[in-house]
Amino acid sequence: MARGGHDGTGSALPAGPRAPALWQTLAWMARPGAFLQRTHRRFGDPVTIRTYWTPEPMVLFSHPDAVREIFRLDPGVAPAGQSWEFLRPFAGPDSILLLDGEPHLRERRLMGAPFRGAGMRQLTPTIAEVAAQELGGWDGRVTTLERSRHLTLEIILRVIFGAGDRTEVDRLRAAIDGALDDVRSLPRMLSMAVVQRDLGPRSPWGRFRLAVERFDAVLLDVIARRRAAPRGDAVIDVLLHQHDEDGRPTTDRHVRDQLVALLMGGHDSSAATLAWAFERLARHPHVQDRMRDGDPDYIDAVVREVLRVRPALTIAPRLLTEPVTIAGHRLPAGVQVAACLWLAMRREDLWTQASAFRPERWLGKLDEMRSWMPYGGGVRRCAGAPFAELELREVLRAASGLRFSPVRPEPERARRSLLVVVPDRGGEVLVQRA
Ligand code: HEM
Repeated sequence: MARGGHDGTGSALPAGPRAPALWQTLAWMARPGAFLQRTHRRFGDPVTIRTYWTPEPMVLFSHPDAVREIFRLDPGVAPAGQSWEFLRPFAGPDSILLLDGEPHLRERRLMGAPFRGAGMRQLTPTIAEVAAQELGGWDGRVTTLERSRHLTLEIILRVIFGAGDRTEVDRLRAAIDGALDDVRSLPRMLSMAVVQRDLGPRSPWGRFRLAVERFDAVLLDVIARRRAAPRGDAVIDVLLHQHDEDGRPTTDRHVRDQLVALLMGGHDSSAATLAWAFERLARHPHVQDRMRDGDPDYIDAVVREVLRVRPALTIAPRLLTEPVTIAGHRLPAGVQVAACLWLAMRREDLWTQASAFRPERWLGKLDEMRSWMPYGGGVRRCAGAPFAELELREVLRAASGLRFSPVRPEPERARRSLLVVVPDRGGEVLVQRA
């Protein structure tokens, strides 16, 4: 039975599943792709869902015209910062993830700088080198999600945090793992966000605070040493040379929050995408054959197609602070409205053989771009998209010398791991050196 809803002002919410929020949350976590497709098939576009991610109901849209309207909403009417509020204890008060309005736009201008032009190109050799080193060790059975997490963190530490030698990389890795263990566990993070009471060093919140303090001490030490001896070859160097509107240099604490935002935004999302790339490639040997020719356009097409069929983030949500109309639907203040990236890129009416993995669809034509949106859009579009693409391209280039086959023939299903969608068996493949 379909269910709409009323907010007392006369606006009815679009229909959606009647199941309790707990059931919808579990269904989404266990099988996000199947859950979204099922609700879309049953209730159409838009659909209203209720989950524990947000206290408010969430209206999902997947038609590109509606999605464009969402991305164009004034951030004053549709802020996104609140959605990340539970991450504040780790992200920090200056984090781009938590800001909205003018402070958010200012932060975006600052953080976008290292990812533009020549600065970005200068990062390529290190990324290529780290990727070649990691993939050089792959042989036999490999759980690509685990290895990709290791790899994307190594890339972030070297290229963004500017860690120069093994000792520094290992020191940072140990500190980050301590803090990320808690951040990765959503139930732990949510319960801590609610409790946030330090009941001694052995309580969950107390332990988390200690891990963050340890992590911050390591990070602030990296920042201090970098200020003392600038090198100029990593993203941190650009961040350290920024000035605010009044010409004052950014504080160490601010740079700390920027580095953490890049870590949180860029670590799991790129690792999930890589694991999906290997999961898909293992089941499409002809794509691997074509990649071996080394055509950069083809590698780009593979990157684009992986991001289309298995986007790491399924939705881009905004909380409405005023009533708005999207695609003719009047929605009240106080509900979440979301562009459903997963559904938009799988619509049968917009994509030929929508669920098939066919990088060829991208060769020589970009007209399907209209509903390609793995990085979200508008003022909150992924701030690290150029970096992500460079990284994915370089890793796949390094992978084109290997041969991948599936451990089990059936495709891996999607499951949710904190904020991203990953292959449920971790992207298991057999690797042969070609
Ligand atoms: C394949 C990899 C990636 C995917 C699929 C992805 C996707 C996304 C999406 C969907 C959003 C939210 C957009 C919205 O709400 O409209 C986002 C935000 C963000 N991403 Fe990424 N991302 C990836 C990699 C990265 C990397 C490598 C970095 C940094 C090095 C990064 C940094 C960020 C940041 C800082 C934000 C917040 C932007 C803001 O609030 O203004 N992401 N990303």
